[in-house]
Amino acid sequence: MGKFEILNHPLIQHKLTIIRNEECGTREFRQVVNEIAELMAYEVSRDMPLEDVEVKTPVETTTAKQLAGKKVVVVPILRAGLGMVDGILELIPAAKVGHIGMYRDEETLQPHEYFVKMPDDLGNREMIIVDPMLATGGSAIMAVDALKKRGAQAIKFVCLVAAPEGVKALREAHPDIDVYAAALDDHLNEDGYIVPGLGDAGDRLFGTK
Ligand code: URA
Repeated sequence: MGKFEILNHPLIQHKLTIIRNEECGTREFRQVVNEIAELMAYEVSRDMPLEDVEVKTPVETTTAKQLAGKKVVVVPILRAGLGMVDGILELIPAAKVGHIGMYRDEETLQPHEYFVKMPDDLGNREMIIVDPMLATGGSAIMAVDALKKRGAQAIKFVCLVAAPEGVKALREAHPDIDVYAAALDDHLNEDGYIVPGLGDAGDRLFGTK
C-alpha cells in the first residue's frame, strides 16, 4: 500500500492559512501556492535514492552522493495544477513537465481526458501529479489511469487540500501510489467544494470567476 501523508511542516501550514483566507488576492495566492509547492517538493523527495560518486574538490578526491533514481516528471492536472509547477521546478529544475486536461461531463459528472502530453519512457520516470484540491478524487483517479496506461509505474499525487472522500476513493482505486496533502479537511459540500477548503483553486489562481 502506498502512503498517505499530511505534510505538516510549520511553514507549509502557515502558508496554507494565508491562501485559505478569502481576502488573499490573485497575486499573493499564486505566489504562496508556488511557495507551498516548493516546500512540499522538498518533503516528497525525501525518499529519492542516492548513489556514490567520486568528486575532485579543490582539496582532494572524495566519494560523495548524487541522485540515482528515476528522472522526475511533474504532471499538473489542468488547470489548477499549473499553479504548483514552478514551485516544484525551483527544487527539481531538470524535471520534465507532462500535462493532463480533463473536463467533467455535465450529465454523468464523470471526468473525461481531453489532452495528454507526456515525455516518452514513463516506465523509467518518477511521476509527480499535482492538483491543489483532492475533492471527489474523480480527476485524480483518471490522471493516474492515464499515466499507468502509458506505462508509468512510480507515481506520487501531491495536493494542497484533500477531502476524506477523495483520499478514500483515490487510495481504493490506486492503492500503490503515494498521496501527499498539506491538509485533510472535513468534508465535501453538496456543490463539490471542500469544507472549509479555500474555494475554487483555479479561479483563485487565475483571477477568474
Ligand atoms: N476544486 C476546487 O478548486 N475547490 C474545491 O473545494 C473542490 C474542488
